[in-house]
Amino acid sequence: MGKKIKRIGVMTSGGDAPGMNAAIRAVVRACAYYNIECIGVYRGYQGLIDGDFEKLTSRHVSNIINRGGTILKSARSTEFRTVDGRAKAYKNLKNAEIDALVLIGGDGTFTGGMIFNKEHNFPCIGIPGTIDNDIFGTNFTIGYDTALNTVVDVIDKIRDTASSHNRLFFVEVMGRDAGFIALNAGVGAGAEEILIPEENLGLDRLLESLKRSKRSGKSSSIVVVTEGDKIGKSVFELADYVEENLPQYEVRVSVLGHMQRGGSPSCFDRVLATRLGVKAVELLLDGQTNLMVGLVNNKVETTDLENAVKEHHLINKELLRVSDIMSI
Ligand code: F6P
Repeated sequence: MGKKIKRIGVMTSGGDAPGMNAAIRAVVRACAYYNIECIGVYRGYQGLIDGDFEKLTSRHVSNIINRGGTILKSARSTEFRTVDGRAKAYKNLKNAEIDALVLIGGDGTFTGGMIFNKEHNFPCIGIPGTIDNDIFGTNFTIGYDTALNTVVDVIDKIRDTASSHNRLFFVEVMGRDAGFIALNAGVGAGAEEILIPEENLGLDRLLESLKRSKRSGKSSSIVVVTEGDKIGKSVFELADYVEENLPQYEVRVSVLGHMQRGGSPSCFDRVLATRLGVKAVELLLDGQTNLMVGLVNNKVETTDLENAVKEHHLINKELLRVSDIMSI
């Protein structure tokens, strides 16, 4: 059992995600509930190195449950990748008498936390916050549900103009190496084809499917493409290729980009963030470290940070089959 925790630091790191503020609020208020202090660390690991800290009370986190982004800001720190950078961070934490950290972010954030723990034996608990949903050990990451709803809403709008002009639209969505957003939003928005990095269906199959759509009388189509798709072409090259090979199609491209990371979090993300935030504080008070909290079958569970980083959260391939059936 480590020393008694009296002060917990909380930070957000990597790409922001809707619901991060709800998680910060949960951590701050759980600390207040258990009579310990909570210190906000600004700009992720860079803030640790710069000693950019502020004591947070319950009132600091009023009216943020509904706000997208992160009040603590986020950054990707190259300095924290160095031994010296991490030593500076440790010194600042010691000076501020912070005993443990709650890290809200994705796999890069957790990798940083693990290395830091190994070098300085500093207690860390991770909360998965990323729109990509690509973290092992949780069915859902904070921000993913909101991003899905944003994407579906936008594709619905694209569909209006696509069908008015009889056009084929390629819609590129985020997901660095993971197709969760594309697959689920694609099925939810009724896309004809969904291209994800986990499954390279090949260009021939795409052309075949689009020809079939035309033959079956469809006048417009939506193809959702993950930014990290492995088909070997950018979404613009893909669109050119299809237009060259299927001149009967008039093709347009929409890259949704960072709008997918913004906006007010869905109720699901707020509740998820709140549950995970409370659990993270309770684990630290219980003397636990190097764990990530996640939601598995609607229960809050823990996974070793190492596994959360090493293992892969697998997409549901059944959804691809369902999508195929729907695009008849
Ligand atoms: O990890 C979340 C994510 O939004 C990815 O989907 C995307 O590839 C990346 O972040 C974009 O990062 P940046 O903020 O550096 O543009």
